[in-house]
Amino acid sequence: MPLTPDSQLDLLFPAELISDDVRSQLHPDLHMRPLASTDYKRGHLNVLSVLTIVSDPGEPAWVAQFNAIRALPKTYYTIVIIDRATDMIVAVGTVFIERKFLRGLASVGHIEDIAVDKRQQGKKLGLRIIQALTAISEKTGCYKTILNCSNENIPFYEKCGYKTKENEMAKYAPERAVTPNPRL
Ligand SMILES: CC(C)(COP(=O)(O)OP(=O)(O)OC[C@H]1O[C@@H](n2cnc3c(N)ncnc32)[C@H](O)[C@@H]1OP(=O)(O)O)[C@@H](O)C(=O)NCCC(=O)NCCS
Repeated sequence: MPLTPDSQLDLLFPAELISDDVRSQLHPDLHMRPLASTDYKRGHLNVLSVLTIVSDPGEPAWVAQFNAIRALPKTYYTIVIIDRATDMIVAVGTVFIERKFLRGLASVGHIEDIAVDKRQQGKKLGLRIIQALTAISEKTGCYKTILNCSNENIPFYEKCGYKTKENEMAKYAPERAVTPNPRL
């Protein structure tokens, strides 16, 4: 199935926020755009599964999550790279914007969930995703963009212009606590 034009899609955020400069450096067989409400069918979860365990919630739950994320204005920016020939997703990444009270009500961009389809790795798609997300973070006024990664991915992020700073710490919730309380 050939590429579905952006004009026929219900997008997470306006496509103009994606840097023309980054788009122009993509191979002509590929297209970069915001996540769309029908991307469940374009292999979104398959691509994410190169990153970690992904359980499939089914399309209606996926769409409900898309709508919940979109209802938070100017907060979540998920972009995808599409293979024009198949209309399938080959790379994905997100930046979400944290609004702070400090530094004169500053904002920080957090890059999350970067994944490139195994067959497409090593072709600069990860680099283009990071460049586009960083540009969105900066365009929306963030004074810095940060991310967590494994030691083996440090060289990749260094190639993208990022530097190691401080440490990450984590505390996983006990299993019974992972279902969100709808009243909170
Ligand atoms: C890590 C990942 C996003 C990189 O994307 P990619 O498209 O394969 O990487 P790119 O082709 O854009 O790489 C850009 C540069 O980083 C280098 N690079 C990429 N991964 C690297 C690694 N693990 N170690 C060292 N260098 C690496 C590339 O060689 C390239 O260098 P060059 O400009 O000198 O040629 C991708 O391999 C992936 O999805 N991995 C599995 C999921 C994952 O780990 N995601 C990151 C979560 S933090």
